[in-house]
Amino acid sequence: MPDEFRTADADEYRMDYRAPHKTLEPSQNEIAVVDRALHALKDAGILPHTHYDQTRFLAHRQAVRDLFEIPWTAITPRMQRLLYAVNAIVQPENMLAAGVFCGNTFISNAGAAVGPGACYQARESIGVEIRPDEAARAERNVRRIDPTGVARVVAADAVDVARQFPHPIQLLYLDADGGPEKGKGIYLDILEACLDRVPPGGLVLAHNSVNCAERLRRYLDFVRDKKNFRASLNIVFDPEGLEVSAR
Ligand SMILES: C[S@@+](CC[C@H](N)C(=O)[O-])C[C@H]1O[C@@H](n2cnc3c(N)ncnc32)[C@H](O)[C@@H]1O
Repeated sequence: MPDEFRTADADEYRMDYRAPHKTLEPSQNEIAVVDRALHALKDAGILPHTHYDQTRFLAHRQAVRDLFEIPWTAITPRMQRLLYAVNAIVQPENMLAAGVFCGNTFISNAGAAVGPGACYQARESIGVEIRPDEAARAERNVRRIDPTGVARVVAADAVDVARQFPHPIQLLYLDADGGPEKGKGIYLDILEACLDRVPPGGLVLAHNSVNCAERLRRYLDFVRDKKNFRASLNIVFDPEGLEVSAR
């Protein structure tokens, strides 16, 4: 059995993909569920602690609401909070996000380092999107929050960017969908292209670990093999899920 954190309401906690900012539950529920997920990640030896700044997180959420153009997203409020918190806790010097579409997933990660939710100084946060039109929209969105350029979006194939990235990658976020043939199976290609630069303690986050579990079978088998990753925990608190793996 894979290691898993699961809430009883994971199947019912559903968002409207076209209403990304709609409140789905009282904020104290959301905070409590995400806290329990963070504690499970700490207990699994994946996170060093569970503390993040709630006020900065809310400033980040508000800036995305005010400034981002989001045609649709599958990032639930719980997932947005978890991604921000994991980045705020780990504080990756370099973060690479693959398959960022309009940039909402990317900024959920990078928002711990740039903009009004920033709680540390990163070296570089790169979002990669293969569709030039979507990459351009994501870059426009990110520029409205981060005038510094520490966070930026490039139009490219994430496999190539991962292969060529010259520095250690402390956090890799996977969300690319490689078309009808590969689908989310492309996660393993992206991971293998840069695994030698994910240092001990580095994290790999894989969105859709629940609703795309079949297409991700080879990827999930790989990260759950202790020969490859020290620990891996499937966070199941919404219908999409997030596999969090630590080197
Ligand atoms: C399903 S979307 C991710 C959306 C995200 N989960 C959200 O809720 O906002 C996947 C994105 O990956 C992009 N993509 C597919 N293959 C890619 C590749 N090889 N490199 C970079 N991006 C890729 C697609 O163009 C698409 O925009």
